[in-house]
Amino acid sequence: MQDSKERSSSDWWLDFYESSPFELFLSRKDPQETEATIDFLTRHLELLPGQLVFDQCCGNGEISVALAAKKLAVIGVDLCSKYIEMASARCAEFGESCQFYRGDAFQFKTDTPCDAAINWWTSFGYSKKTSENLEMLKRAFESLKPGGRFALDYPNIPAVLRNNKPVQEYEYDCESENGVIKVRRESSLNLIEGLREQRWIFHMPDGKELVHDTSLKMYLPDAIVESLQLCGFVDVEVFGSVFGDPLELDSERCIFIARRPSA
Ligand SMILES: C[S@@+](CC[C@H](N)C(=O)[O-])C[C@H]1O[C@@H](n2cnc3c(N)ncnc32)[C@H](O)[C@@H]1O
Repeated sequence: MQDSKERSSSDWWLDFYESSPFELFLSRKDPQETEATIDFLTRHLELLPGQLVFDQCCGNGEISVALAAKKLAVIGVDLCSKYIEMASARCAEFGESCQFYRGDAFQFKTDTPCDAAINWWTSFGYSKKTSENLEMLKRAFESLKPGGRFALDYPNIPAVLRNNKPVQEYEYDCESENGVIKVRRESSLNLIEGLREQRWIFHMPDGKELVHDTSLKMYLPDAIVESLQLCGFVDVEVFGSVFGDPLELDSERCIFIARRPSA
């Protein structure tokens, strides 16, 4: 294994998504869960056909395009140019209309105020500095119309602390790489800095090994509620799944719904 000091970068997200085959994880395997996600967002963001939704850190556009299929207009932003290409291709394939931009969600806000915004599936908390992470929530707030709602989907840190799996292994049969990609993910909890640190080792079919280190700032649910309020959001609600379950210690997800005040 390589020395982590050679590979670690505090701004790991600038390179990780672009130069690893992480898109294997982005591709949702369970259409029912995607459907439940869209139903959850429609209900809790009070979405109506024709409204405009901002997908902050949209990845390969799976959620954006599924929302567009419900007759919503979507603006998506992501730092990774590979994903923006995938999102645009997906949108064209399904005949939907979304606008995708390559940009930095710490800075990007939409020109047109949106009816709702989402930050989905652990796209928040990447910086070790809370002041920087707050910037992303502020951009979501600023992209909303008064009264607009925001959904933030983040891991439930109590469950991460209780159930951390030090090693997980996955295999993906990957047509574009002509073979099987094996992934080993090593996770450790850095309690002093409040980080979940992960090393991703991708064994490529041609024998190459790609090693990337990532980290997530671990915020307990109440800290995120406070951050949302600091950015100006009100009426914060918290759920433990897209099925609307209440948040419990072992819920895998922690989903926040918040509102920009009406005036
Ligand atoms: C775990 S993926 C989730 C993608 C998508 N939201 C979904 O649900 O499929 C995290 C995404 O955040 C994007 N990202 C991370 N930091 C970003 C930043 N500062 N600005 C824009 N996108 C960012 C990554 O490129 C990646 O697509």
